[in-house]
Amino acid sequence: MHILLPGAGGQLGHAIQGIFSSHKIVTCDRQQLDITDLDAVRAAVATHAPDLVLNAAAYNAVDQAERDPEAAYRANALGPRNLALVTAARGIPFLHMSTNYVFDGLSHRPYHEFDRPHPQSVYGQSKLAGEEAVRALNPRHYIVRTSWVYHTHGKNFIQTMRALSRQPEVQVVNDQFGSPTYAPHLATALARLVTTEAFGTYHMAGRGGTSRFELIRTFYALLGVRSQVKPVPSTEMPRLAQCPSYAVLTTLQEPSIYLPPWQDGLAQFVQSAL
Ligand SMILES: NC(=O)c1ccc[n+]([C@@H]2O[C@H](COP(=O)([O-])OP(=O)(O)OC[C@H]3O[C@@H](n4cnc5c(N)ncnc54)[C@H](OP(=O)(O)O)[C@@H]3O)[C@@H](O)[C@H]2O)c1
Repeated sequence: MHILLPGAGGQLGHAIQGIFSSHKIVTCDRQQLDITDLDAVRAAVATHAPDLVLNAAAYNAVDQAERDPEAAYRANALGPRNLALVTAARGIPFLHMSTNYVFDGLSHRPYHEFDRPHPQSVYGQSKLAGEEAVRALNPRHYIVRTSWVYHTHGKNFIQTMRALSRQPEVQVVNDQFGSPTYAPHLATALARLVTTEAFGTYHMAGRGGTSRFELIRTFYALLGVRSQVKPVPSTEMPRLAQCPSYAVLTTLQEPSIYLPPWQDGLAQFVQSAL
């Protein structure tokens, strides 16, 4: 399959380039294709004539989005709208990535694909607007929600905590729960999904859920560092954006495509990072 990949410079974009070996990938980083530019999207799709467009581009600065909602909506809503419009006009399937931040985090069980979104942050609202545009414009869509993505390439919570691991003590919130997702595991699942033509909305994240505190405790144990991990409530580490306190993802979809348990992803990250 011939795939056009906007957002190739990000974490998932990198992982896809490493994993999708049986497909021909045309990579576009932000300089090569700004997805908010409809004419540029039209030109890229016309030039490369892909069999599928996979959008890994997004505005992911969750806190900054509260200060600059327009930037978040341009990349996360207008961008996917442009891609959905152009792919639909050419009858091409479109895979778009979304997030567990579309949920309010008030659930007491993992969220599945049929749960009702109710985002509490600008970032989550902008991502939901992107999902809605894609559903409305291209019926041949895959929308894949994921959570807490990390990779050896790029900025993420795991890399931040790795940099802090020489401190005698670090504080980590113990009341936020999610599904940590190793980007190469996600890319492997996406490589399978794009061959199915089973269009719809999917949840794909590291299997199981955990708190940020448990995640970093497990990470530091794998790294063999002695830094003390101190659990703190999120009220002690206030953020601009309201992050869902419980946003573990599970799937009810068919075909059911599961990622390995989050602990396996973390172990693989440690192996490839050391
Ligand atoms: N990271 C997570 O924890 C997480 C969690 C849930 C869902 N997701 C979703 O998963 C997908 C992949 O995330 P990721 O972690 O790989 O993101 P990432 O590392 O932040 O990469 C996003 C890429 O998109 C580019 N970009 C931003 N605006 C663009 C535009 N207008 N046109 C073209 N490219 C643009 C960025 O370029 P610049 O660096 O130049 O801005 C960056 O290279 C996204 O849809 C994201 O919302 C991520």
